[in-house]
Amino acid sequence: MSNSFCRLVKKAAACRVCPRLADQPAVLSSANGSLNADIIFIAEAPGRFGAGRTGVPFQGDRSGDNFEILLKHIGLTRAEVFITNAVLCNPLAEGNNRRPTAGEIKNCSTFLKESLSIIQPKVVVPLGTVALQAMNLILGTRFQLSQNVAQPLATADFTLFPLYHPSPRVTNWKRPLAQQKKDFKKVLRLIKPG
Ligand code: URA
Repeated sequence: MSNSFCRLVKKAAACRVCPRLADQPAVLSSANGSLNADIIFIAEAPGRFGAGRTGVPFQGDRSGDNFEILLKHIGLTRAEVFITNAVLCNPLAEGNNRRPTAGEIKNCSTFLKESLSIIQPKVVVPLGTVALQAMNLILGTRFQLSQNVAQPLATADFTLFPLYHPSPRVTNWKRPLAQQKKDFKKVLRLIKPG
């Protein structure tokens, strides 16, 4: 781990800024992937059966299973990419996962911004509306998933490529896994053109 990432991990572990998340561990460690990755995937927040339990983003729940199918579909492994969440702690309401609040997304965007500046990826893939909201805060943009899905959007430091979240709710109702597989193929073309 680089010194700067090590410092960031410690800072996230000690963070108690969001009152409703203060008792939840931040999921940020060397298990998030490679610091030399060309591509960062940003999910929403750890889920209680997934990252909230395993400490590894997108591992242990059905969203994670779908993400792994998509990654495998384009021949990439977790070791070659970096995976993180817009909000690093598992948001819960009465024991169930809940959507992070706008305040929690804003608070945690400082960690996301710092992760981006440490890793310096070529491509940033926000998965779903929460991750895109976090990137809009960082970039000062107003991208919308419905308008900008699977569009390469040039920014000063990387290409932003918004995609849908791979949760069963989304694959069942909004963007089937077959379509998401096609979207992921386009991601590959951005990092390995030709
Ligand atoms: N697991 C994660 O790490 N993030 C999500 O958004 C969903 C499941």
